[in-house]
Amino acid sequence: MYNSVMNTSTSPFNPIPLRAQFPALQTMTNGRTPIYFDGPGGTQVPQRVIQAMTHGLTHNMSNVGGPFAASHRANDTVTAARQAAADLLNARRPDEIVFGQNMTSLTFSVSRAIARTWQEGDNIILTRLDHDANISPWLLAAADKGVTVRWLDFDPTDCTLRLDALPALLDSRTRLLAITHASNAVGTIPNVARAAQMAHAAGALVYVDAVHYTPHGPVDVQALDCDFLVCSSYKYFGPHTGVLYGKYDLLDDLIAYKVRPAPSKPAGKWETGTQSFESLTAVTAAINYLADIGGDQPTRRAQLVQAMTLTSQYEMGLSDYFLRGATAVPGLHIYGITDLERLDERTPTFAVSLDGYTPAEVAAKLGEQDIYVWHGHYYAIAVMERLGLLDKGGLVRIGFAHYNTRDEIDQLLAALQEMAA
Ligand SMILES: Cc1ncc(COP(=O)(O)O)c(C=O)c1O
Repeated sequence: MYNSVMNTSTSPFNPIPLRAQFPALQTMTNGRTPIYFDGPGGTQVPQRVIQAMTHGLTHNMSNVGGPFAASHRANDTVTAARQAAADLLNARRPDEIVFGQNMTSLTFSVSRAIARTWQEGDNIILTRLDHDANISPWLLAAADKGVTVRWLDFDPTDCTLRLDALPALLDSRTRLLAITHASNAVGTIPNVARAAQMAHAAGALVYVDAVHYTPHGPVDVQALDCDFLVCSSYKYFGPHTGVLYGKYDLLDDLIAYKVRPAPSKPAGKWETGTQSFESLTAVTAAINYLADIGGDQPTRRAQLVQAMTLTSQYEMGLSDYFLRGATAVPGLHIYGITDLERLDERTPTFAVSLDGYTPAEVAAKLGEQDIYVWHGHYYAIAVMERLGLLDKGGLVRIGFAHYNTRDEIDQLLAALQEMAA
């Protein structure tokens, strides 16, 4: 076992009181507390999110737009969630925030609208580091419109995106760069602001998938200067609801696929059908949970920035701890950045393999010990293809969240050691 028995790092962030807020982290399975290292697939939720969902189902079930109190409450729910998400992402105004079923559905919908503006002979750029939800919608739209797809590669040795290759892919016919804020497989955080600068200089729009990044750092759409950014509340301690940010003028100008009397202005223009008001109540609660971690600050945005800075520093400590321990496990291979000086370029999400076992076997063996990890491709199809692993069972994914501890990592490392032996 790696040489520390500390529960937490020396970071000012302490996960222990926060863990107490998560019922799932207190619930015993097989006589022990499970270890949730499956955050990249979906995080657990604090009690206040569960209460908010119940509150929403109890009080906010009337539809919006009616002349009575329950309907006014539903309106207020949507308004509050839009403001909370605007604070989380640093949108300039709440009507730049669109809610939907999940990131994938939002991306299919918006990609259709964006693709209407493309002409045959145009081109778009996708990256091999992206989750398929930021690839397939664009591939299908490009095929519909006779648009060429260009690929931005990553370096397979450390899974860093090859931004140096981007200028050669861009030209005056480039309409879009779709890029991940962080890889849900290998954890790489590309320099999205730099990529956006280059894409904008060529006149292309920038569509950012922040689903994996959002629980691991402060998202700032203004600093990134992206045109669109998508994330999913269930990856950051909330319910299953997708969130899309779009620059107001673009949301206003683009033609949305919608039914006729629906709102003609953002953000309602982009929200098809009736929203899940109970989920939106819980979306706000999840963002407020994060904001509270930031303590006393003049605004909720400032609280969120502080919270995500504290938690990302703590998570870097977990990554450091894991990486140091993992090198002692014979036959364990880690894909992605392993340089301890570069932990700010990755999330605490590790894709690994262990000699002598398939990824499915590793995950199942850990699962038997109630250590929850994923295996396979986790829809990072292009990543696994590039690494030559798509047909070989992919990799094991171990993902830490701010509610995880060094003690849990010790248990993981001990289990891996035992398997390796
Ligand atoms: C990086 C990334 N992008 C997109 C998605 C798809 O998100 P959703 O389930 O909200 O459609 C996921 C889900 O795992 C993801 O990790």
